[in-house]
Amino acid sequence: MSLIEQAAKRLEQLRQAGVELPDEPEVAAKLIQPAVEVPASSHTMVPAAPSSEAKIKTPSPSSPEVKLDLEAISASGLLVPHATRSQLADEFRVIKRPLIANAMGRGASPIPNGNLVMVTSALPGEGKSFSAINLAISIAMELDNTVMLVDADVARPSVLNMLGLPPSKGLLDVLQDNSVDISGVLLRTNVEKLSILPSGTAHPRATELLASDTMIRLLDDMANRYSDRIIVFDSPPLLLTTESRVLATHMGQVVIVVNAENTVQSAVKQAISTIEACPVKLMLLNQVRTAKTDGYGYGYGYGYGYGHEK
Ligand SMILES: Nc1ncnc2c1ncn2[C@@H]1O[C@H](COP(=O)(O)OP(=O)(O)OP(=O)(O)O)[C@@H](O)[C@H]1O
Ligand SMILES: [Mg+2]
Repeated sequence: MSLIEQAAKRLEQLRQAGVELPDEPEVAAKLIQPAVEVPASSHTMVPAAPSSEAKIKTPSPSSPEVKLDLEAISASGLLVPHATRSQLADEFRVIKRPLIANAMGRGASPIPNGNLVMVTSALPGEGKSFSAINLAISIAMELDNTVMLVDADVARPSVLNMLGLPPSKGLLDVLQDNSVDISGVLLRTNVEKLSILPSGTAHPRATELLASDTMIRLLDDMANRYSDRIIVFDSPPLLLTTESRVLATHMGQVVIVVNAENTVQSAVKQAISTIEACPVKLMLLNQVRTAKTDGYGYGYGYGYGYGHEK
């Protein structure tokens, strides 16, 4: 059964079980089925590099602080903390559970670097940034976790723009300049447990920097710095460039966003085959279209759900 068919079937089961599905053309998410894969003896850990230690003292009181305009963010359709019971918040409550459990070592088996969560997709425009931001905000609402949202889509960054923030130094500056450390560019926000690492100053060799040894050492240090911190990476699509694949081999968990309407199954399969070594791959079905009879006619919902990767 294809991913989309599984999703449709699961949604039908939810409907029959009395779960309310959305009747407005707005975001809605339902859990389709967690697909947590934990075999991964092949996962390669990168030895920590003591030299990068100084780059990771994060966040520190000296880190710049930005104010997120939560009203504007909410108006743009993104999740905001403490939103009155919204569909989107409910959806991400379900979506984040298995990720947090794996990150905190409460999954079926321990996952190396489980707190490094990469959000990617086969192709551009499938909702990676939208999902990564929502996921980060949702996890920041947890009592026990802090979150760093990293814009690792260095060729086409969009996190700051989507959050209404001006361009700012970030990851690329840390990677290309030894004198810049993360604490100097990491943005603390008015969402207490959320900090943002922007992609930084544009660089002609941005994609090479992203797949560089310095980046890999940085990742490993990030993973081990704070036990309660989950790091969410917005990243480039898997099928257009190779740096996402390199990045994925150092992540504990990879979330593959699939646009249920537009992505063909072969592209999804091909994308998954590029990141075989990653211990945990979760598929996030975005913009699922569900027909619903509500007595007044049909409505359509768009939503998220986890699906099996086959
Ligand atoms: N579930 C959703 N509900 C509403 N809008 C969505 C949803 N998913 C994505 N979008 C919107 O679709 C557009 C593309 O999404 P987004 O920028 O997150 O995709 P992307 O995969 O990060 O794209 P790129 O590959 O260009 O970085 C954005 O305007 C985003 O706000
Ligand atoms: Mg994006």
